[in-house]
Amino acid sequence: MVNFTLNAQAVEIDVAEDTPLLWVLRDKLGLTGTKFGCGIAQCGACTVHVDGQARRSCVTPVSSLEGSDVTTIEGLAASAGLDEGALHPVQSAWIEAQAPQCGYCQSGQIMQAAALLSESPEPTDEEINAGMAGNLCRCMAYVRIRKAIKIAAASQSEGTK
Ligand code: FES
Ligand code: FES
Repeated sequence: MVNFTLNAQAVEIDVAEDTPLLWVLRDKLGLTGTKFGCGIAQCGACTVHVDGQARRSCVTPVSSLEGSDVTTIEGLAASAGLDEGALHPVQSAWIEAQAPQCGYCQSGQIMQAAALLSESPEPTDEEINAGMAGNLCRCMAYVRIRKAIKIAAASQSEGTK
């Protein structure tokens, strides 16, 4: 039995201890916003936040999460103190930049970008490239993703003035 906080709710999970968090989210809890891409920490599609840090859920054994605070794309806005139904600034920026093509990689991209912006609120192109390097997009939407991150950075900096 593993106990942790998921999107601000306490959860208790009873699965084999080496079960990856990704499959607990998708198959046990029905949170399908987190995607399966490679299963070996190489694509970023499965990115969530664990204690505020970006983490590949496909290689995170659920047993390692005892006492942790996990946020998925479904809880991202609430984790920033926004009301239910509101969009996180990074999500709004994604819409403004029309970042997705097929969309499959995008929840992982957004979670990675939100973690990057919380550490580096006004990232340079080089910092964006470094911070997002592990998140692959088969549709090659990288230019729009970078634009979205810049929009999010600008809107977050406006919000703090
Ligand atoms: S599915 Fe986890 S990094 Fe690709
Ligand atoms: S938008 Fe299609 S994989 Fe990224």
